[in-house]
Amino acid sequence: MTTSPGSELGTALGLGFSEELPAPIVGTVVITGTDTGVGKTIVTAAIAAAATAAGQRVAVIKPAQTGTADGDEPDAVTVARLAEPATTRTLASFPDPLAPLAAARVAGEDPLTAVMAQLTARSIAEDHDLTLIEGAGGLLVPLGEGGWTALDLAAALGATAVVVARAGLGTLNHTALTLEALARRDVPAVVVIGAWPAEPQLVHRTNLQDLAGDLAGAIPDGAGVMPPPLFRREAGHWLDPRLYGRFDPVAFCSRSR
Ligand SMILES: Nc1ncnc2c1ncn2[C@@H]1O[C@H](COP(=O)(O)OP(=O)(O)OP(=O)(O)O)[C@@H](O)[C@H]1O
Ligand SMILES: [Mg+2]
Repeated sequence: MTTSPGSELGTALGLGFSEELPAPIVGTVVITGTDTGVGKTIVTAAIAAAATAAGQRVAVIKPAQTGTADGDEPDAVTVARLAEPATTRTLASFPDPLAPLAAARVAGEDPLTAVMAQLTARSIAEDHDLTLIEGAGGLLVPLGEGGWTALDLAAALGATAVVVARAGLGTLNHTALTLEALARRDVPAVVVIGAWPAEPQLVHRTNLQDLAGDLAGAIPDGAGVMPPPLFRREAGHWLDPRLYGRFDPVAFCSRSR
């Protein structure tokens, strides 16, 4: 009987993996989404919390934060508060709530270069087990100089992508389009639902059956406002073993039929 590297790592992490369970994703993961406001930050925090609880040294990078003038909590601060990973870092911030390249232009500031984003991510990844990079908006939003995107960054870093998707109407098309764009650049991807309603309606249940890609988690709606210690305790229930949790996508989909 042979054991997969995943089962060995799973056992070492105390996740109780058997051979059949998929390996936890290590290295660099780009958290992208089908749109802005889909729950990327909450999903990033949940993965960071579950991996940290499994003994991993986790870094979270937000390459470009916009809308800082609105007084909203920056995404890296939300993740630090909810998940307490080893490291959180924001590389560039701009006041207006716009896509990062536009926000830099409007502010008259230099946008973040792709080279700087890649160098920083590689350097941070060297002394962490898992490095999570949260994009801004959806996959093809221009993040910096020359219009580089989260897709370009994921491809350059050889990262895996987590596509955060909505639960409701419209998600089938947006999720399929996002996964197609990732596949064209050979970026492996899993899907996590950003906010699964407490009382799923017909549209949510049918979407689950037809959603493209490989479902690796579903965060309950309301998770973002949980007290952080509760959030950290619960995070492992929302994510499957690839994302350091105990969520079972097959059981979840059949329960939700
Ligand atoms: N599971 C959840 N529980 C509670 N609130 C949530 C959940 N997911 C998302 N939200 C809320 O929805 C809003 C948008 O979520 P979030 O900020 O995570 O989106 P995002 O995809 O990170 O957007 P951005 O592109 O601005 O980074 C926030 O107010 C957040 O608190
Ligand atoms: Mg966010």
